[in-house]
Amino acid sequence: WGKTGHRVVGEIAENYLSKKAEKEISKLLNGHSLAFVANYGDDIKSDRQYDSYRPWHYVNFPFGEKYEMHSKSEKGDIIQGIEKCISVLKDANSTKEDKIFHLKMLVHFMGDLHQPLHIGLEDDKGGNDFQVRWFSDGTNLHTVWDYKMIDFYEMSYTELAANTDVLTKEQVEMIKKGGVLDWMYESRALCEDIYKNTEIGEKLGYAYMYKYMDTLRFQLQKGGIRLAEVLNETFS
Ligand code: ADE
Ligand code: ZN
Ligand code: ZN
Repeated sequence: WGKTGHRVVGEIAENYLSKKAEKEISKLLNGHSLAFVANYGDDIKSDRQYDSYRPWHYVNFPFGEKYEMHSKSEKGDIIQGIEKCISVLKDANSTKEDKIFHLKMLVHFMGDLHQPLHIGLEDDKGGNDFQVRWFSDGTNLHTVWDYKMIDFYEMSYTELAANTDVLTKEQVEMIKKGGVLDWMYESRALCEDIYKNTEIGEKLGYAYMYKYMDTLRFQLQKGGIRLAEVLNETFS
């Protein structure tokens, strides 16, 4: 996601944190909100010192195949990245500095896990090489999903976070079910659907947005609820 998408995920997560997690997070983040730190993972990309974290934002494998069929990438991927962040946060021997870094990264990666194009195809780098038009601008499918649709609304992240579906307790419980791999496969299914419904060079505009905006918003909402779930479990 772009800046707004990541902030929405962080903002929604705040509503689902346990008291314990809230307290631990507040100590680590010095009172800053999850939305405030949600873009750290992208901000550090310009610093070559952090190049090794670049593959942690996504995972690519062919449609119709299972992630588990492929040997784990030595460079890491979003699944391994999230697992690493959780293990550093749970480890009593981790330094505070390490915990702060991996908490900020976890907030970011739980967002990316819910961007369907981040569970993508190697050939076109998760849609980065899939050229399309957004209204009259030339862009690519990945960017349309990262932020073009979101930015079209010209709403703040707090407005977007407030404009989520009103969910019953049962619905929230359903969303919390499963784990990182299940949630990754949900994004993968959406990615396959998006590829079936989008052609290279296609001019995408309001019709595309109205077709997919509810799906996109629900991905951000699930990302927030599940980020909180992971944090509650990690700090329990
Ligand atoms: N670079 C290569 N593949 C990518 C993906 N699926 N998402 C984001 N960046 C990528
Ligand atoms: Zn992206
Ligand atoms: Zn990212």
